[in-house]
Amino acid sequence: MTDRRNTRGEPLEAAELSFDGLDELNDPRAEETDFDRVVEDSVTRRGFLGGVVAVGTGAFLTGTAVLTADEARAAGSRLAFTAVPAGTEDAVRVPEGYNWHVVVRWGDPLWSKGKPFDPATRGTGASQELAFGDNTDGMALFQLGGRSILAVNNEYTNRSIVYGMRDSMKPENADDVRKGKAAHGVSVMEVAQSGGKWQVVEDSPFNRRITADTPMEIAGPAAGHNLLKTGADPSGTRSLGTWNNCGNGRTPWGTYLACEENFNGYFSSSDAALPLPPAFKRYGIRHKDWGYAWATADVRFDIAKHPNEPHRAGYVVEIDPLDPKSTPKKRTALGRMKHENAELVVAANGRIVVYMGDDERGEYLYRYVSHGVYAAGGKNDGLLDRGTLYAARFKADGTGEWLALTPQTTGMASQAEICIHTRMAASAVKATTMDRPEWVAANPHKAEVYCALTNNKNRGRKPNAGGDPTPVGGPNPRAGNKYGQIVRWRPANGNHTARNFAWDLFVLAGNPAVHEDDRKGSKNVNPGNFFNSPDGLAFDSRGLLWIQTDGNYSNARDFAGMGNNQMLIGDPATGEIKRFLVGPKECEITGIAFSGDRRTAFVGVQHPGERGNSRWPDGGDSVPRSAVIAISRDDGTAIG
Ligand code: FEO
Ligand code: CA
Ligand code: CA
Ligand code: CA
Repeated sequence: MTDRRNTRGEPLEAAELSFDGLDELNDPRAEETDFDRVVEDSVTRRGFLGGVVAVGTGAFLTGTAVLTADEARAAGSRLAFTAVPAGTEDAVRVPEGYNWHVVVRWGDPLWSKGKPFDPATRGTGASQELAFGDNTDGMALFQLGGRSILAVNNEYTNRSIVYGMRDSMKPENADDVRKGKAAHGVSVMEVAQSGGKWQVVEDSPFNRRITADTPMEIAGPAAGHNLLKTGADPSGTRSLGTWNNCGNGRTPWGTYLACEENFNGYFSSSDAALPLPPAFKRYGIRHKDWGYAWATADVRFDIAKHPNEPHRAGYVVEIDPLDPKSTPKKRTALGRMKHENAELVVAANGRIVVYMGDDERGEYLYRYVSHGVYAAGGKNDGLLDRGTLYAARFKADGTGEWLALTPQTTGMASQAEICIHTRMAASAVKATTMDRPEWVAANPHKAEVYCALTNNKNRGRKPNAGGDPTPVGGPNPRAGNKYGQIVRWRPANGNHTARNFAWDLFVLAGNPAVHEDDRKGSKNVNPGNFFNSPDGLAFDSRGLLWIQTDGNYSNARDFAGMGNNQMLIGDPATGEIKRFLVGPKECEITGIAFSGDRRTAFVGVQHPGERGNSRWPDGGDSVPRSAVIAISRDDGTAIG
């Protein structure tokens, strides 16, 4: 993280920093701390529910990450592959007996009328609108009559890469902005195997680009609210575009959920003296954008002229991947926040439950429960519009409860307002401030849910942006948390709609090669499998948990030995964690989907070379390009 220079050796500017770095620059927090209120119930001093993971207490598997595939199998491990060592190469590494290939890269056309990616220009607005977007993130695979349709989020762009052909490395004109907006959103494309390799089916009728300009419908309690009305849309029900789509979800009725995360970084003000309401401050909406310059070419991103426009972003967007003409719907009932992903389960009583993290330091974990019940093959359209939103409160004794966000509990005027200013609603009920909740994943074999809490340097040191304290304790046990952890909970009576749950930590990431204290991590972390900043989480059909990282890849000091970002597999039953993949330089690994026969895992490699030091995947002098890869086993059997 020390090398903040581009390929020309010039120092990187603010807009080329990570979201974390930008957030810190744009949103300096008060230095006040709330140590006085710190609750001393660190997990280092108590056991866990299942006794699987504990720091300083309890037995645990040792050395599993250094076993060969055969040894692991003989020892009864479900992770029967040879662990991939940590590494710093500009390459993807998978276990012995596995292979990978690129399916689609940023800028690859989805239609034959599109132009192949041109490294000299790095594309134009017109070419980008016909091509796979940048910075691949959450994804899901849909099957229809033997055809495979992959829906993939394209989260954001790195200015030094998409505009790397310019000396300024900045968007300089309207077409640059058009290109940037078209590189965002969602790419839907048919994929098929040809010569053993998955490729995009050019010109498939399913291929679609959804960008920052695609018409959207606003649905649910906030639709039509005064805060959502603009000059261009006096109804408050029609908006344009989706952007910063991070993780994803999918519904049992066959739709895709794209989650709007750092939507704030695209707005700016032409009036430098414009007063910012508290809600703008809470959501990080400021006078300056993060370098995207969209307001220079599209006035709706100017908050001085269109102050309600930011209220129309920050939602979960439902997309029908099999109908390219369908209008995506912003499901406001699921709240407005920096949505990471949306993990949907059908509860035993038939209600739809959606678990969601709000990825910002000291923000909250949420649950949505539908009023209606799911009917297989029936009409389920209202299930994501009518329901109750909750925020989680974790208690030190290993229990917790879901707090309903209603006008009565929050003191807010209406459900619509709660769905627009959801962060304030969760603050009002005193939910637990978390260490940046990223992906949530539900175990397909039992009522048990996992959430990656990626890191939080402010834990125990600074309140969140709403002034709520962030005491050390419970599922957020370490001050200035550098490594992150994965919390899991089991709803009471195995019922996802229950008010109460029990929780423990599946893993506390850390560096046992450097630290002796709680920074060494939990017992299931060792120098053979250590990692930092868990982010993407997904279960496979066997009930194994795939863990993807978006962390510090400096490989130095606190992070010595951890190498590049990576993907691991964990066994919820034993706590065993083993490294399955290491990514190229300066990437994060995010997004995963399995083919129906589990012989292929599609995995996203995002922002290789974000600081100028990668040429992945094409090598040589090429431009680094975010890409979806397909991983399979040499013998063609199921992976993992
Ligand atoms: Fe887009 Fe929180 O990761
Ligand atoms: Ca993420
Ligand atoms: Ca990231
Ligand atoms: Ca992250």
